Amino acid sequence: MSSTTAKTYSPSKAMADAAHVNADRYDRMYADSLADPDGFWREQAARVDWITPFTEVSDVDFTLGNVSINWFADGQLNVAANCIDRHLATRADQTAIIWEPDSPTDEALHITYRDLHAGTCKMANILKDLGVGRGDRVVIYMPMIPEAAFAMLACARIGAIHSIVFAGFSPDALAARVNGCEAKVVITADYAPRGGKATPLKTNADQALLHCKDTVKCLVVKRTGGQTTWTEGRDYDYNALSKTAADTCHVEPMNAEDPLFILYTSGSTGQPKGVVHSTGGYLVYAALTHETTFDYKDGDVFWCTADVGWVTGHSYIVYGPLANGATTVMFEGVPTYPDASRFWQVCEKHKVNQFYTAPTAIRALMGQGDDFVKGADLSSLRILGTVGEPINPEAWNWYNDVIGGGRCPIVDTWWQTETGGHLMTPLPGAHAMKPGSAMKPFFGIKPVVLEPTTAEVLEGNPAEGVLCIASSWPGQMRTVWGDHERFEKTYFADYPGYYFTGDGCKRDADGDYWITGRVDDVINVSGHRMGTAEVESALVAHPKVAEAAVVGYPHAIKGQGIYCYVTLMGGEEYTDELRAELRKWVRTEIGPIASPDLIQWAPGLPKTRSGKIMRRILRKIAENDHATLGDTSTLADPSVVDDLVKNRMNS
Ligand code: WTA
Repeated sequence: MSSTTAKTYSPSKAMADAAHVNADRYDRMYADSLADPDGFWREQAARVDWITPFTEVSDVDFTLGNVSINWFADGQLNVAANCIDRHLATRADQTAIIWEPDSPTDEALHITYRDLHAGTCKMANILKDLGVGRGDRVVIYMPMIPEAAFAMLACARIGAIHSIVFAGFSPDALAARVNGCEAKVVITADYAPRGGKATPLKTNADQALLHCKDTVKCLVVKRTGGQTTWTEGRDYDYNALSKTAADTCHVEPMNAEDPLFILYTSGSTGQPKGVVHSTGGYLVYAALTHETTFDYKDGDVFWCTADVGWVTGHSYIVYGPLANGATTVMFEGVPTYPDASRFWQVCEKHKVNQFYTAPTAIRALMGQGDDFVKGADLSSLRILGTVGEPINPEAWNWYNDVIGGGRCPIVDTWWQTETGGHLMTPLPGAHAMKPGSAMKPFFGIKPVVLEPTTAEVLEGNPAEGVLCIASSWPGQMRTVWGDHERFEKTYFADYPGYYFTGDGCKRDADGDYWITGRVDDVINVSGHRMGTAEVESALVAHPKVAEAAVVGYPHAIKGQGIYCYVTLMGGEEYTDELRAELRKWVRTEIGPIASPDLIQWAPGLPKTRSGKIMRRILRKIAENDHATLGDTSTLADPSVVDDLVKNRMNS
């Protein structure tokens, strides 16, 4: 993986000439952004409309015990006004959202900016009538339907803070998040159709709400019209209320540092943490990265295939594109329904110009063969993007050749829930790409590679170590909801003075960056972050389980699979039925996305004499890397390892 072995792909001259940012401009802007960050960001902040202009650009401290991050702090703005109202004069009839339903035979919707305004205002008025005001929290647990975007923007309009819970999470996970942020209202739908199946979202919400305060209200959007149960006094019918709700609504002037949303994400320890993003800095960063990374131009049709339940959907389906007055595609379905041609059919149907997806989807579709692609006219595509995990060169090449026809630069965007937007990516008109490399830092981003144990900054190329960021950027998360100390401890304690990303990284001889994956106990399953500790605590909550250790292992489609070592309570029988039951148990506790791929019975786990589980060894066994198990002599009982190796599960 060095520049000597990696083939590079340069943008065509035509692409570079037409792009917002070519190589010279990148070099100049990047240098400016580091030399005078406040000057750079002051200029960039002009891309959003301010109700009250800010005077101070940044006020940031990364010192442990004193971490505080402020951008544009005395400015006021409203995100919904920026994403909708300001476009009405010129774009009222332009499509803001193309909604592509799960079933290809159902009709797609073209929602104009005028429609978006009306839908958002109605939703905002309904929320106000339910008692939601500035600073209150609203949980959104919805399918990928336009009302999910209305709900996000409605919260932004009235100053409420939304927290979206991906519709694939279980009632328990939903309840934990509703309680975690003390939400006043949960917005959900009757059912969530996906891949021809319908998840009973309202039923899940009903179950979740049993574990929440009885003052929490539930606003229900009709999607399928399928049967649900109704709790009078708690449940509200969105479709009925929206018939009479006013379609205009006052815009609340928000401070730049007021939270826009909370998004729960997995960490290496404990329960998921509520990542808090700001109003002003986040919007500036989402809009700038959307325009620059995807070379977005007026009139383009932009499609990010993520779900709004993840940060990618927040920044690149809703906030970035709409702030830029774009046409953004919102897709309710999955890549393989009704068959593996769906993505490409949708690209053709809506003449998509930028297409942004995850390596796991690319691998899955590549595995189905090229025939599914051949039937579609993909000539509208100009830029391709990936996000969520490192992309292997084989998948990169397929994406480049078969989908992009060798014409479309691929932006391999590295970023995190915490970062709000892209931190590293090649820019389509500026950089020669190397398959699998996130290449270059975005404007204002100062990456540093540190020696993991000594925290020494590794200067010069090549270098390999842990990845930190030396300075703040406007889209950076501000805190963990309700637990600032956890924020500081997670991101600023291990490598003082830096934001610690949790990722490992190589910088090659040319100075280009390659993300090597998480260095903590977070695994990346189909591009979704999963804390191994969460899966472990779900397993040990089962009455028959005494102990569990969970690690990742290489998985051909998902990138990483979930490998569980389980010790049962004394006297319990190790059976295949129990294995199936445990798998189901974890799905119920967390959600289908946390389904264990392999469960190995482990009557003994490798532990140090002080009782600490040696995860390093368990990781190696799961990876089938038995040759380098390392020193096992410090184990309390080294023979445990031989047993585990002998009985390793195979997929
Ligand atoms: C990983 C998703 C390699 C990384 C936006 C990061 C990537 C975690 C890439 C964040 C990429 C994301 N190349 N690895 N292009 N993009 N990652 O919070 O380990 O769901 O720390 O945010 O995904 O996942 P999250």
